[in-house]
Amino acid sequence: MPDAEQAWRMLEEADLLVPAEAVEAAIARLAGEITDAFRDRYPVLLCVMNGAVFFCGQLLPRLRFPLHLDYVHATRYGKETRGQELVWHAHPPDAVKGRAVLVLDDILDLGETLAAIKRRVLELGADSCHVAVLTDKRKRAPKPVKADFVGVEVEDRFVFGCGLDAHGLWRNLPAIYAMRET
Ligand code: IMP
Ligand code: MG
Repeated sequence: MPDAEQAWRMLEEADLLVPAEAVEAAIARLAGEITDAFRDRYPVLLCVMNGAVFFCGQLLPRLRFPLHLDYVHATRYGKETRGQELVWHAHPPDAVKGRAVLVLDDILDLGETLAAIKRRVLELGADSCHVAVLTDKRKRAPKPVKADFVGVEVEDRFVFGCGLDAHGLWRNLPAIYAMRET
């Protein structure tokens, strides 16, 4: 875990990719799209911990229709910046059975995490499973899952802020930054 001084240096040396106003505007637009699609479906929203906390927190007050909120916790990155095996800390709840489910995540990177979550939700008998992500990382290779709702596209670099962490840090930033390659 970096110390506070290293954390500040990480931020000072990073490139601002998406300013806070643009993130806010993207979430407002997504709220409209999600409302159009789900207002009459009484959905279960699944927040993918911990990265989607920011997205979820900003999105929820903009949704004025009945819904259930729950969470899943699956992670591939641990404290590394390269992909790893998927680890489940909290599985999707059985209560998704027969429901319209919307999974909320911070980023669609390779798509392995969201593909696994979606598979599990459908195995549990959900009626449907859609995916909303705050960011979609541009990749050359096709992804095993597609996001139905995308906030902003980001370039293929390690990004942080708005729920996304760099070495466990800076989830609390209102804008999205890209780390300088070291
Ligand atoms: P995927 O399975 O490769 O799509 O990985 C998705 C997960 O990895 C996300 O939910 C994030 O937690 C994490 N992740 C992927 N790319 C980044 C990044 O650029 N910054 C921070 N976390 C990332
Ligand atoms: Mg995540």
